[in-house]
Amino acid sequence: MLAAHKGMNISPDEFMAVLDDALAALQKNNIDQREQEEVLYTLYSMRSDIVQV
Ligand code: HEM
Repeated sequence: MLAAHKGMNISPDEFMAVLDDALAALQKNNIDQREQEEVLYTLYSMRSDIVQV
C-alpha cells in the first residue's frame, strides 16, 4: 500500500473523502452497522501508508 501511494501527496482530507464514499456505499447497500465499522476500521488502519507518504 505504501508503494502504491508513495509520492502522491495525498492529504488527510482526501483520505477522509475516500472513507466518506466507502461509508455511503455501505449504507446504500444496507450493510449492517457492525460490518460498516469493521470496513471503516480496516480502511482507516491503512492511513499511515497512504497520507503524505
Ligand atoms: C482508505 C483509503 C485508500 C485505500 C484502501 C486505497 C487502496 C488502494 C489500492 C489497493 C491500490 C492498488 C495498489 C496496487 O495496485 O498495488 C491503490 C492504488 C491507487 N490509489 Fe489508493 N487507496 C486509498 C486512498 C487513496 C486516495 C485518497 C487517493 C488519491 C486521492 C488514492 C489514489 C490511488 C491511485 C492513483 C492509485 C493507482 C496507483 C498506480 O496504479 O500506480 N488512493 N489504492
